[in-house]
Amino acid sequence: MRESSHLGATVTPLAGAGQRLAVGGPPLAEDVPDVGRARDAKPEAGIERTLLYVARTPDPLLCAYLKSRGWEISTARTVHEASRLVKPEAAYAGIIDLTGFAPREFAGLETILRLQQVGWIALTDDTRLTDAEVRRLIRHYCFDYVHVPVAHATLDYLVGHAFGMVSLCDLDTPAAAASQDDDEMVGTCEAMQQLFRTIRKVANTDATVFISGESGTGKELTALAIHERSARRKATFVPINCGAIPHHLLQSELFGYERGAFTGANQRKIGRVESANGGTLFLDEIGDLPLESQASLLRFLQEGKIERLGGREQIPVDVRIISATHVDLEAAMRDGRFRADLFHRLCVLRVDEPPLRARGKDIEILAHHVLHKFKQDSARRIRGFTPDAIEALYNYNWPGNVRELINRVRRAIVMAESKLISAEDLDLAHFTAQQTVTLAQAREAAERRAIEAALLRHRHRLTEAAADLGISRVTLYRLMGTHGLRDEKTFFGGDAENQAELPPDGQD
Ligand SMILES: Nc1ncnc2c1ncn2[C@@H]1O[C@H](COP(=O)(O)OP(=O)(O)OP(=O)(O)O)[C@@H](O)[C@H]1O
Ligand SMILES: [Mg+2]
Repeated sequence: MRESSHLGATVTPLAGAGQRLAVGGPPLAEDVPDVGRARDAKPEAGIERTLLYVARTPDPLLCAYLKSRGWEISTARTVHEASRLVKPEAAYAGIIDLTGFAPREFAGLETILRLQQVGWIALTDDTRLTDAEVRRLIRHYCFDYVHVPVAHATLDYLVGHAFGMVSLCDLDTPAAAASQDDDEMVGTCEAMQQLFRTIRKVANTDATVFISGESGTGKELTALAIHERSARRKATFVPINCGAIPHHLLQSELFGYERGAFTGANQRKIGRVESANGGTLFLDEIGDLPLESQASLLRFLQEGKIERLGGREQIPVDVRIISATHVDLEAAMRDGRFRADLFHRLCVLRVDEPPLRARGKDIEILAHHVLHKFKQDSARRIRGFTPDAIEALYNYNWPGNVRELINRVRRAIVMAESKLISAEDLDLAHFTAQQTVTLAQAREAAERRAIEAALLRHRHRLTEAAADLGISRVTLYRLMGTHGLRDEKTFFGGDAENQAELPPDGQD
């Protein structure tokens, strides 16, 4: 059962600086990624430091300098050349000089930026950075970016770091696959890195945490990660799905009962709250909690004591409460289905899970992660994904998020008839590049992705997201309507600004 496997999560070291968060990881102090190790990476005997340099006009002086620093450089002037140079089994640092490419070439560049085994550093200038598409490419696919002109030594330092990071993320080796933990969180994109930082910070306190995110984004995994990194990690993590327990049983399930409390209560039962004493109580689907239980929970949060059903004793219980929902709690509060006072008690700290479609390259990394975890389910030796499968992974919208991705890849492992999983095996044949996509559709998809990412980055603060996107607040609001993003504030972490009426403070 998943709950018990969570309870038994073991302590493992952080797998890959910043790439993954091992849920059973050590506490905060030892948890700081050892970036120095990757940054200072010196060429070790037998390990070739390979670097892919993509530029319209490669700089010969830079190439000479990097060669003198021990880099094995491959230079490419076009996307086509670059994709021919990359060997699937090798790790690379990558330099992509965005200053020489025209905006119409960005879609092509994205194909190589997605290459899982390349750790990219972007070279750019102020003009390029005003382009939202350039900013998106950098955010999603690059470890860092620098303005040109850049000191060669700085670039050497940065590519050393990027190379160290992709070498750690060597997902295709059996050893890497074997080391993958069940409870490990995979994430390299900016949104996930931010989530990991938030997890580390909130783990350090005892305040209540409210996790919001679409279904299947990893809310429970995050709750467990917080518990395993907190001072309470030696005590239990007790998850309870408020939506899965019949309402009339919830009170006794949460708070327990005394013998004789009602017909059939033959012996005392300890409730979930009490059984989490000293540890963490995870209230999943908190939006489904009936009003009666909301009142009892609020009382408990105020007093720190529970009363078992049929009992008179007030029992002090020390638990940290983490709650989660995939529904819009603000709407539930407006409709009177959820108590605002309880919500404010539960939501001292807030964590927002990014939807999978906003995680860029992580989609592919997660697909490989799942493949390695479950590839023994297939009689044949599955080695990876076809290019059309990769394309489809990026084009699909993933309404069921990570859970859906896991299910699709697992099913494909069983169904695949060759050594590579195809888009058809994933049941995503309609999302391949062969599918005709008009320019208008491609633009629309890119626009939606950029808006979603900006909203997520700024926790749905429209003014800041609009500034980032280089548009007015009014335009952003209108575009959110066009792309159906206005109802999703709960996923992004709605704040006061969202709930206010939008003043007509900007024109196009
Ligand atoms: N970043 C991640 N890396 C690896 N696995 C993940 C990640 N996020 C989620 N998963 C896996 O995806 C599945 C769904 O995660 P989880 O149950 O935590 O999601 P959830 O948001 O609680 O979903 P729901 O809303 O349906 O309850 C689990 O098997 C979990 O291990
Ligand atoms: Mg859940």
